[in-house]
Amino acid sequence: MSKIINIAIDGPSGAGKSTIARAVAKQAGYIYIDTGALYRAIGLYSLRGQVDAQDQEAVGKMLSDIRVELAFREGEQRVLLNGEDVSGLIRTPEVSMAASAVSALPAVRAFLLDLQRDIASKNSCIMDGRDIATVVLPNADVKIFLTASPEERARRRFAELEARGEQVTFEEVLADQKQRDYNDSHRAAAPLKQAEDAVLVDTTGKDFEESVALVASVIRGRLEQAAPAEPAPRPEKKERAPHTKVKYNFKKFTTHAFYIIAMPFTWLTCKLLYRITYIGRQNVPKKGKLIIAANHISGWDPVFVGSAMVRVIHAMAKEELFRNWFVKAVVTGLNAFPVSRGSGDRRAFEYALGLLEREKVLGIFPEGTRSKDYRPGKAKSGIALIAAATGADIVPVAIWSGGKPVRAFRTHVVVEFGKVIRNEELGLTDGKKASELRSATRKIMGRIEEMWEKIDENYAR
Ligand code: DC
Repeated sequence: MSKIINIAIDGPSGAGKSTIARAVAKQAGYIYIDTGALYRAIGLYSLRGQVDAQDQEAVGKMLSDIRVELAFREGEQRVLLNGEDVSGLIRTPEVSMAASAVSALPAVRAFLLDLQRDIASKNSCIMDGRDIATVVLPNADVKIFLTASPEERARRRFAELEARGEQVTFEEVLADQKQRDYNDSHRAAAPLKQAEDAVLVDTTGKDFEESVALVASVIRGRLEQAAPAEPAPRPEKKERAPHTKVKYNFKKFTTHAFYIIAMPFTWLTCKLLYRITYIGRQNVPKKGKLIIAANHISGWDPVFVGSAMVRVIHAMAKEELFRNWFVKAVVTGLNAFPVSRGSGDRRAFEYALGLLEREKVLGIFPEGTRSKDYRPGKAKSGIALIAAATGADIVPVAIWSGGKPVRAFRTHVVVEFGKVIRNEELGLTDGKKASELRSATRKIMGRIEEMWEKIDENYAR
């Protein structure tokens, strides 16, 4: 059996620990353990029972009624509080505060210690928290202290809460965070501090992909240092150049016949429901590898683009769509393939490379998620990474609905295929420089925006 590897990541709230650790764990094939969720579960219990989270004795008594467990479903951690899955209930500002208060109590820390150590002793894992390197896993193979400036951390947290529809202001989030930072680092029991042998990683000014790459390289470096004769986890995967040939089983995801038969129906549906107008279909080259990059305004977008029937398109789609068997059958039939968003999904990346190597058309929404204002938004650099690795040209596509939600019989949709952006125009050398990737991404998204604005001038009433 291969050696169990434990990686400890500590740091203040909002440093991006959980998203970064989750993505790195996925790449390395480790499980990811978010220990903050355990404290949050206890915080939630104290709120529900109206137990004063600062009252040592009352919380101590309360603990005898609590059973906290971790379960893993589809690789995702779930927290069970007396058997109830509370993972969705523990991310509110109230629970954050209660968690911070109960986490200061030695009884609570002792209560959760064995659970954390037990999981780490049985699994290669990345565990994040405040005292993982100092208390929970003092012998961890790699220790990282992850931080970012207070304002940047508050900005990220605010965006997260806003996206979830929470009613908070930036000032409230910043003030809350300062309070929690203070609590976490000044408490007597296991205060937040950098372990002596931890590597400090500061993500201020770095985007998600850069931060993930940085943390992954620190881990790789440390593991190699510790055991030069032993290979780091899955090195062949991580160190493979992006353009390496990839074997992939296309039968698994594609059913061409269904796509060909379905397309005329999708065209008819789009005409009837959305009076769809296609512009510039002739701009799409008839042959050769190609990336079709569109802005993302609704769940219908792959259909809007596909129904123009310019070429058979293989669209990258969020993996959540592949969970329900029926939806999975339909989207798979329409040649979509799953991507796990925000995690630098290697498998989806390789699948995309495989498609383009076979001279097929990859459909991609560079923003990664639907825009909230129904106009083009900010793109992630995944598209530039794929362009750099494959040399494929890009057709920018603007999808327009008048800046409004897409509604059947009420919305006029216009889909414009722009002039090809040659790969050489993107100024990509080897696809490793973050600045190059960002500028190429901006160029692609910039074209989409220009087209969108023009459509808006011409079609908005
Ligand atoms: O990481 P988070 O925001 O989900 O953590 C919630 C609270 O729990 C936070 O105030 C700090 C505390 N915590 C802790 O004291 N020790 C840990 N290992 C993890 C979290």
